[in-house]
Amino acid sequence: MTTTVPGTLAPTTTVAGPDDGRRADAREKDIMRFRTVSGPDLTTRNDAYLAWQRDREEADLWPYFRRYDTALGPRATAVSDTGVITDGPNFGGQDYLSLTGHPAVLDAAHRALRDFGPITAGSPALGGANPISKALEAGLGEALRTDHVALFPTGWASGFGTIRALMHRRDHILLDRLSHDSLRQGAAASGATVEFYRHLDNDDVRRHLAGIRATDTRNAVLVVTEGVFSMDSDTPRLAEPLAVCREFGAQLMVDVAHDFGAMGEHGGGQLEVHGILGQVDFVVGAFSKTFATTGGFLATPSASAREYVRMFGGPQTFSSAITPVQTAVALAALGIVTSPEGARRRASVAAVATRLRDGLTARGLEVMGDVVCPVVPVLIGDTPTGRVASGLIARAGLIAHLVEQPAVASDAARFRMQAMADHSDRDVDTAVEILDTCIRRARRTTVGAH
Ligand SMILES: Cc1ncc(COP(=O)(O)O)c(C=O)c1O
Repeated sequence: MTTTVPGTLAPTTTVAGPDDGRRADAREKDIMRFRTVSGPDLTTRNDAYLAWQRDREEADLWPYFRRYDTALGPRATAVSDTGVITDGPNFGGQDYLSLTGHPAVLDAAHRALRDFGPITAGSPALGGANPISKALEAGLGEALRTDHVALFPTGWASGFGTIRALMHRRDHILLDRLSHDSLRQGAAASGATVEFYRHLDNDDVRRHLAGIRATDTRNAVLVVTEGVFSMDSDTPRLAEPLAVCREFGAQLMVDVAHDFGAMGEHGGGQLEVHGILGQVDFVVGAFSKTFATTGGFLATPSASAREYVRMFGGPQTFSSAITPVQTAVALAALGIVTSPEGARRRASVAAVATRLRDGLTARGLEVMGDVVCPVVPVLIGDTPTGRVASGLIARAGLIAHLVEQPAVASDAARFRMQAMADHSDRDVDTAVEILDTCIRRARRTTVGAH
């Protein structure tokens, strides 16, 4: 067990931990090796995985499952299971417009708790709605210019539940190759035929659609993409797949988890940027990035599709509804998002993201993406370097998340920096300095080691 207090350990500190062989394994081994375990006893057959994870923890190579000992803010304190305290700029939280501590949001949460209690009666089908959830559905419909909205307990559930409910065995689903887990899993669970097109490649969408429609004009085809792909911070030219869908009699779904509220002049995200608000068949999204709470939604112009998803979408019918506090927070956040204050906050987070991008690029680091959005991914490449850097960064006083397999390819590890409107210039400059120093040091450590 390694225990430290904030700021007392320089990034050069050597920590006690596993012996050299196990330390090398902890740094180098591909996590996907553990996805093909076999054996008759489910309670013991993952012991090797646990031992490897423990080695990573002890060797300062395990950045996951940390806890926050403070509220989510531009500066925060995170603590690892081995007791490493990171106290400093927080680029690991998802609070793009810095609304989690906003007085109007906190007031709304308190009032909802007082008026409606901590939980709803049950699933949406069995008394899970209340006046706040109805107002939230209406508000989202207005912001997205779409008549029919259904709420979900999480953003993940909205993508999964909508696809799983709507699509059937003879149908076809065409997803961007880098689609979020919730969308892939919904597609797999639906039983429909699933194809993937090249990331952001609208010509490839057309090729696939033409191929499907050449042999099947009787069944549905759903094309699935995202407003912003957060791992890469890039975005499709959304009007094109919409037009291609219309041409081939297919429908379009866009997951706007990361851009709705945080981008676009009025907060309408990439749908607004591309001038197609209100035109997309199925818009799913999450409250967890910009709307200061957990929860998600489906917005669609189709009344029947909405009702069908409400009745046959697993997370709608068989899971308790989003709570009164969550709906009140999301509604208050939506009020800010669509106000002049929202526009100011979007400008602030864009300025923070730009300063971060420019600062990192000036140090020679590779920043991914082609849009100014709150997510700024810093490409490391090889996973061992990422793991070593993550330990150094945590000890140097910066909260930043390493993303490695299975979320991204093994040679494309990265730090996913998440900007907030309330980050100061100093927060950004500190982050740049720490990232640069620690990544250089990690590269020196791992050169020749694998
Ligand atoms: C595109 C996309 N959809 C859905 C989700 C899930 O949202 P939530 O964490 O609110 O369930 C995420 C977040 O990781 C996401 O990036």
